[in-house]
Amino acid sequence: MTFEKLSPKQKQVFKWCYNSDYKAIICDGAVRSGKTICMITSFILWAMRAFNGATFAICGKSVGSAERNIILPLQSVVDITHYFKVTYTRSLHLLTIEGMGKVNYFYIFGGKDEKSYQLIQGITLSGIFLDEVALMPQSFVNQAVTRTLSVENSRYWFNCNPESPEHWFYKDWVLRADEQNALHLHFLMSDNPTLTQKQLDDAERRFSGVFYDRYIKGLWVIADGLIYPFGAEGKATVSSEERQYIRYYISIDYGIHNPFSMGLWGLCNGVWYRFDEYYYSGRKENYDKTDNDYYNDLISFAKDYPIKEIIIDPSATSFIALMQKNCKFRVRRANNDVVEGIRNTATSLQTGKIKICDCCTNTLAEFSSYRWNEKFNEDVPIKENDHAMDDIRYFVNTVLYHQDGFFAQVR
Ligand SMILES: Nc1ncnc2c1ncn2[C@@H]1O[C@H](COP(=O)(O)OP(=O)(O)O)[C@@H](O)[C@H]1O
Ligand SMILES: [Mg+2]
Repeated sequence: MTFEKLSPKQKQVFKWCYNSDYKAIICDGAVRSGKTICMITSFILWAMRAFNGATFAICGKSVGSAERNIILPLQSVVDITHYFKVTYTRSLHLLTIEGMGKVNYFYIFGGKDEKSYQLIQGITLSGIFLDEVALMPQSFVNQAVTRTLSVENSRYWFNCNPESPEHWFYKDWVLRADEQNALHLHFLMSDNPTLTQKQLDDAERRFSGVFYDRYIKGLWVIADGLIYPFGAEGKATVSSEERQYIRYYISIDYGIHNPFSMGLWGLCNGVWYRFDEYYYSGRKENYDKTDNDYYNDLISFAKDYPIKEIIIDPSATSFIALMQKNCKFRVRRANNDVVEGIRNTATSLQTGKIKICDCCTNTLAEFSSYRWNEKFNEDVPIKENDHAMDDIRYFVNTVLYHQDGFFAQVR
């Protein structure tokens, strides 16, 4: 790709590092507004102009997401490749850029990767680029900044989509941009000059509720109200008719006195249907089932479907051990990142990637009462009537969004 057109805001991203005393740039706002591609291109151009033989950091949420969202697109940006030789050595997570008699080194880090944190502690950096910085731990970001302090003329490049207004990045950097000597630019999708009306509509359709306000309107707002308004309005509900499914999973949220919830998922024409559910509350029934009872219920629930894997609440250790012992199913501990899982589930519902069959009445009832806890400044759901909600989240975050999750395969 080439930058044939740049919006006025994008032009500022290309210029700020040459004609100002700013130490940093912060671009926040809507998704697809052209933050990442402009920033990484201008970061590389600046690095190649200002330094030779220097080391830089390019950071994403994980190394994998940085490779997909930054390194891969960068390799097709003609504004870079026309002037420089770009080599990515995957085993070292190292991008080497040469040209105009210079060579510089760009290491890829994942803010959420434990190993990245250890590695970044040891190096001196002339510039740092942090993509989706609000998804990284504050300690990682502080460490990355610290690594630049000994280099004169080092600079920081941050971008993110909004989160809660109590988020540390909003408070420390966005609100204090002046004190930090940072240029703050707020992006909307209208700042991306290449988006077609269809792309705008597609992006808008992906989000609702607080995610719409944050990712489309670009606002730092707290999460309140229903978590899945789209689900609560029945917009993801379909009839329980016969379908030809080609793959099956079961997702489980474990509970003894609290409800134990299972969802049976089938894939048909690219859509995952929750076509059956199991829901048992020890408290309501006045009888707490044992792990063996639940195991027998699981066997009857699974019928003869060829279940690819059971995705389960990672804290259900006794039940996981029992399933392993019986060896009938392949078991995988779920990725239990709550907020990320909710975000992915909301998008999956909204885009029609998952649908709920109308026989799943407990799930549909939970959609109507599953709310954000307004007493917290961070994104925290109210922990009531959230059992089907949890097993859906486990399924989505572990099976549908597995690239960034962890594969803690039980066997
Ligand atoms: N000025 C531009 N010229 C060409 N393509 C652009 C331009 N600005 C953005 N894009 C494209 O628009 C899409 C979204 O941009 P991206 O930088 O990923 O947005 P964000 O990081 O804000 O989510 C990408 O495919 C990107 O290449
Ligand atoms: Mg981006």
